[in-house]
Amino acid sequence: MKGIILAGGTGTRLLPLTAITSKQLLPIYDRPLIFYPLNTLLKAGIKDILVIVSPDHSGNFLNLLGSLFRGFGINISFIVQKSPRGVAEAFILAEDFLDGESSTLVLGDNIFEDDFTEAIQTFSEGGRIFAKEVPDPERFGVVEFTSDHSVLSIEEKPEHPKSSFAIPGLYIFDHTVVDAAKSLLPSSRGELEITDLHRYYLEKRSLDVRVIDGAWFDTGTHESLFLASAYAREHRLGERFHPMVNDALREFNMEFKKIVSLKK
Ligand code: G1P
Repeated sequence: MKGIILAGGTGTRLLPLTAITSKQLLPIYDRPLIFYPLNTLLKAGIKDILVIVSPDHSGNFLNLLGSLFRGFGINISFIVQKSPRGVAEAFILAEDFLDGESSTLVLGDNIFEDDFTEAIQTFSEGGRIFAKEVPDPERFGVVEFTSDHSVLSIEEKPEHPKSSFAIPGLYIFDHTVVDAAKSLLPSSRGELEITDLHRYYLEKRSLDVRVIDGAWFDTGTHESLFLASAYAREHRLGERFHPMVNDALREFNMEFKKIVSLKK
């Protein structure tokens, strides 16, 4: 199982915060946002991770993450997404990296409190998505399912949602996902929609859905960015990170301070 973090995009809804940096590098309490999805993958035992970044901020991602896990047995690679063409494009960009293996894609602006180890380790084929009950499902992909979790319908940001369950930005697919993504047509907003990819697997009857219990934030607005920071502080999300991530961060800070003092 390989991991992908989609950290491209322009973040226009967060202007002016995103005029000079990437959305995924904005702070969530005491650390940049990208550490949260990164931690989600590492905590689940994924050691090979591709970070998809926008051309304007690629250097910043490299400076922050490029050598962070050196010596920890973790491989982080980067690829530039020249212009954002939808979430499902991530799998096409990741084709060489995936090299025929299954993958978990997590959106770089999504924060999860849950642990996905079991869901990832028990995955075998097709696609696996998640559902979280929210008060404003029309802002998200929406999944309707039966009491025994068989998926009935999936829609992207519907005006009249058929259920109150949003599909959070963490998706698990088998090796067929690259060809499936290539077979999609752009939506009316010109994007390869992740929900179209879900429907592709739904039609093949190889999509399952699991409800998540813990907190979930899509930090795409000023309000949700603020709420996520407040939650991370109150619930000590950083302290609950995989110890390896916190060790790597401590080392990074120490090295950084050393370099600063040598420059003086
Ligand atoms: C994307 C997906 C949507 C999903 C959401 C989760 O929307 O298209 O299906 O529910 O992420 O964060 P976006 O936030 O890119 O508009």
